[in-house]
Amino acid sequence: MAKKMLHSLTLNGEEVEVASAPEATLLETLREDLRVLSSKRGCNQGVCGACTVIIDGKPVRSCLTLTARCEGHDVRTVEGLSDDRILNALQKHMVEAGGVQCGFCTGGMLMSARNLLAEVPRPSRDAVKSALSGNICRCTGYRTIVDAVCGAAEELAQ
Ligand code: FES
Ligand code: FES
Repeated sequence: MAKKMLHSLTLNGEEVEVASAPEATLLETLREDLRVLSSKRGCNQGVCGACTVIIDGKPVRSCLTLTARCEGHDVRTVEGLSDDRILNALQKHMVEAGGVQCGFCTGGMLMSARNLLAEVPRPSRDAVKSALSGNICRCTGYRTIVDAVCGAAEELAQ
């Protein structure tokens, strides 16, 4: 492995410096170096969405993103959104609707759903399905997750 280099980025609102190899992915850096564990390593190939984080306001697959490319950027994970009203509503509705079973996909689902509701406060059901189409869940069958996102949108709009 090539020599590690220091990279500075903003993680959940705080400046962090982390040493990583040029080929290290953000997912590896988050989980192995920074011990931020909500982003999961599923396929590690950009397919399942379990590793989704938000970079500069957009959902991104952290397994396909080099840590070196995050230098100077704003990275958000579920851990950094504990006071976020959209995320809190989504979490509540996910639990109530039965959208969380094993929980492996949940962090990535929440990131994608949170980004949708931040941009489109009252999305159609089809828009929710489309926004979550890159996130694979092997447990729930998706209906409960879509119900949860629609329920959260409704609550937030009141
Ligand atoms: Fe990144 Fe599956 S682990 S998309
Ligand atoms: Fe198990 Fe989605 S709740 S993979």
